[in-house]
Amino acid sequence: MKKHESKINIAVLVSGSGTNLQAIIDAQEKGILRHGEVKIVISNKKDAYAVNRAKKHSIKAETVIKEGQNSQDIFENSIKKILRENDIHLIVLAGFTNILSQKFTSEYKNKIINVHPSLIPSFCGKGFYGIKVHEEAINYGVKVTGATVHFVSEIPDGGKIIMQKAIYINKGDTPETLQKRVMQKAEWIILPRAIEKVCVEMLKNGGCASN
Ligand code: GAR
Repeated sequence: MKKHESKINIAVLVSGSGTNLQAIIDAQEKGILRHGEVKIVISNKKDAYAVNRAKKHSIKAETVIKEGQNSQDIFENSIKKILRENDIHLIVLAGFTNILSQKFTSEYKNKIINVHPSLIPSFCGKGFYGIKVHEEAINYGVKVTGATVHFVSEIPDGGKIIMQKAIYINKGDTPETLQKRVMQKAEWIILPRAIEKVCVEMLKNGGCASN
């Protein structure tokens, strides 16, 4: 990162509908996210609606597909190449389904953040993704859930927590109603704020977010 830079270049990695990406773009346009700018969106799914959202806002988008069983290295190398070409300082995982290798996460230590739809350390880790997280929370009978934004380490959902927001589970909630409320009232609010917080820290520390 060059010394005079006043914004952190961000890549958002997506796989699905991209409502969290939309929240980041909206926050950028409203001035809630001021110290970072989304330079590129990378999808690992060919038909991810998130890519349309990026294009609508004139943000570059690339699709990188993981093919076959032993191709994590090739897949990650393609992503790294795009990150380098776009001079990316911060990677945001916003509903990204691929679990990045230890090699990748250690190379980008404190430079990858993720949003997860529960209060970590509950209902998280390998296999906990999307609607499944809410199904598990309802089945367990917890009364409070929420969302977490955290740094990504080699342990799935195990990195340092940056921000959390709690949401009550109502009687009669289904996984779908709960997912919607967690997204609207927690994820879409804390993700842009957490990104802004990390960007400010990175700018203060010459490119590093403290940990
Ligand atoms: C979001 O709820 C996000 O928290 C979740 O996937 C959804 C993606 O939605 N991520 C995880 O479960 C990661 N473990 P989006 O594509 O509309 O942002």
